[in-house]
Amino acid sequence: MKSLTTLQILQDAPVIPVIVINDEKHAIPLASALVSGGIRMLEVTLRTAASLGAIERISNEVPEAIVGAGTVCNQADADAALRAGARFVVSPGYTAVLGRYCRQIGLPLLPGVSTPSEIMMAMEDGYSELKFFPAMQSGGVAMLKAFSGPFEQIRFCPTGGISSHNAGEFLALQNVVCVGGSWLAPSDLMVSGHFTQITAFAREAKALRRHVL
Ligand code: 3PG
Repeated sequence: MKSLTTLQILQDAPVIPVIVINDEKHAIPLASALVSGGIRMLEVTLRTAASLGAIERISNEVPEAIVGAGTVCNQADADAALRAGARFVVSPGYTAVLGRYCRQIGLPLLPGVSTPSEIMMAMEDGYSELKFFPAMQSGGVAMLKAFSGPFEQIRFCPTGGISSHNAGEFLALQNVVCVGGSWLAPSDLMVSGHFTQITAFAREAKALRRHVL
């Protein structure tokens, strides 16, 4: 299977859902619901015992979805994600060890940063598409505007504290390609089986407007 570029991952839709799966049986209905709403780039966080099984099932059973792993903190996480079928990985922060390892194994990485020094470290290793995390807590829109001066060539996926209410403000920025957020996949809707509501959230997210890419 051809490897994706990080830019392709970010450009696919205005929102990458950040997914926490507590019960593997929710993986297929959730992925199908999101895909039905037009969102196919899915980040399943490695925070629960069910996460790797969920990635494997989505990868095998929902061919329209492109599943990645989030909360990837080290090489072992990256290896486990790749083995489960993840097509990309997302990390909350950046280390050169992780950045170089993902490049070596050909696994697209969207690394998290929240300071100029972290941006510079990721740039040194050739990363120019970065997750701004945690976005709201780290200065939000104002911080991204400040980054656009010294780091004109860097593109961001802000994540953390973003919802349908404020996503538009971020998507209007020239240095933002898409946003990430957990609001598309609330656990109470998964538990209660309200997957049609999740499709509605996805449809709404897919229709968000971005600045012209
Ligand atoms: C996370 O790592 O949990 C993501 O940043 C999601 O944050 P959110 O729940 O604020 O969207």
